[in-house]
Amino acid sequence: MAEVSTRYQQLADEFATLIHQGKIKAGQRLPAIRRVAQTHQVSVNTVLSAWQRLENRGLVEARPQSGFYVRSVLAEVAASAPKQLKPRQLGREKMALIEAAFSAQRNPAYTNISLACPQHEDFFPTAKLAKISASLLRRKPDIISTYALPNNGEPLREQIAKRTLYSGLSISAEEIIITHGCSEAIQLALRVITSPGDCIGIESPTYFFLFPLLAELGLKAVEIPTDPRTGIKMDVLELMLKEKRISALLTIPTVHNPLGFTTSVADKKRLAHLAQQYKLPIIEDGIYSELQFQSPPSPAIKSFDKEGWVIYCTSFTKTLAPDFRIGWMMAGRFHEAVSRLKGLSTLGESALLTNTLAEFLANGGYDHHLRSLRRRYASNMDKVRDMISRYFPEGTQATRPTGGFVFWAELPGEINTVDLFEQLLNERICVTPGSLYSLSDHYHHALRLSCCYPFDERYRYALRRTGELACEMTGIAAQEYQTPGLTTAVENSGEP
Ligand SMILES: Cc1ncc(COP(=O)(O)O)c(C=O)c1O
Repeated sequence: MAEVSTRYQQLADEFATLIHQGKIKAGQRLPAIRRVAQTHQVSVNTVLSAWQRLENRGLVEARPQSGFYVRSVLAEVAASAPKQLKPRQLGREKMALIEAAFSAQRNPAYTNISLACPQHEDFFPTAKLAKISASLLRRKPDIISTYALPNNGEPLREQIAKRTLYSGLSISAEEIIITHGCSEAIQLALRVITSPGDCIGIESPTYFFLFPLLAELGLKAVEIPTDPRTGIKMDVLELMLKEKRISALLTIPTVHNPLGFTTSVADKKRLAHLAQQYKLPIIEDGIYSELQFQSPPSPAIKSFDKEGWVIYCTSFTKTLAPDFRIGWMMAGRFHEAVSRLKGLSTLGESALLTNTLAEFLANGGYDHHLRSLRRRYASNMDKVRDMISRYFPEGTQATRPTGGFVFWAELPGEINTVDLFEQLLNERICVTPGSLYSLSDHYHHALRLSCCYPFDERYRYALRRTGELACEMTGIAAQEYQTPGLTTAVENSGEP
């Protein structure tokens, strides 16, 4: 017995060394148990015990029916939201930063490792969508000469109503309003449920595009402390509701941008309950919910909403066609008002585009496409976490997102990532600094990164260079390691 335990410990140590040396990398599967048993001339049980020992040490994780995979050694981000719960509005300096980030993100000469939208046709069923729209134009040429009147897009609304899996929503086509992206859905919801001067609860940090929108509508925001792993601190929210400090909540509870968490089902139910109890309109941004890694997927807060206080907003921007700008919403008790406002602001959406999406949803293999996207993003995340753990200053923490493709990293030491952002722009690399994602000055040491790009040499160079510069700026070294195939002198040529 003592001999067996020594052997499995030795085996575990041997593989732990390979993992530490980077010879088996984060995200890679440990070799098959039977093969290791044969090559090391030990029993299958000995190998299994060794793998379990590695699991207990946090070096690998077991994945159901798949085997043992190497975990990233990167620490997870701990909660660190601003302490003051005061209403804030976008200031000039932050607006200038948002404009600088947009301008860099628009520039095709930059290597962008932060935009929250896939940047390559590989990630979209482009050929199929082109074929469907060409066939639509052939079959129904008058589609582009017909005026897009309010409340159009019926074929798409019918297809959306059939797809309840990823939201848990049971809806009829009449309850759906087609919008110009998720952005318009959020804007319409805000315009209907708020008045200038109102104060909105938001997560901290959150999707930065919300700040100029709130400012434009004369709204203030309170950043509610948010746990990077579980979401909004529910007891703080409840206290704020009791004290009537917010009149609506805008939340991204499923695969949050930028933190990547998915709120538990229990908390989603509680949110729906609080909405009812306090007559609190909740805008639920579900744009990443079809990119959740977990199965079965976590349902929307909206699926627990009995009285229609939750307004669900989403789009096909992240999964099918960013350029189409097609989104949709379900506005519950606010349906009539939102529908009227939508008609007044942009009438309807393009029938060519909505019908193309409807035909794709009906028989284009959307679920198959989503499965392959999720696999790809999960694998890219493992690779990116591995690179962050090797090239960023020691002590860097990063989130472990529950889906989608964005990361949140917090750097150690004294660093302002706005300086890092500016220096990297000189090298034509675009990241987004943490300060963008909050109205406070709380996240100056954070960065948002994304992995919705081909994991090629150009992307890896930009990520590694970001880590190197962060090491220089913090004066904290990284673990030195050469990724096979990555040359330090990659020309950041500026080719798109
Ligand atoms: C959380 C979140 N909501 C909304 C949007 C905007 O979506 P759309 O491009 O469909 O307007 C984005 C885009 O990045 C996002 O990340």
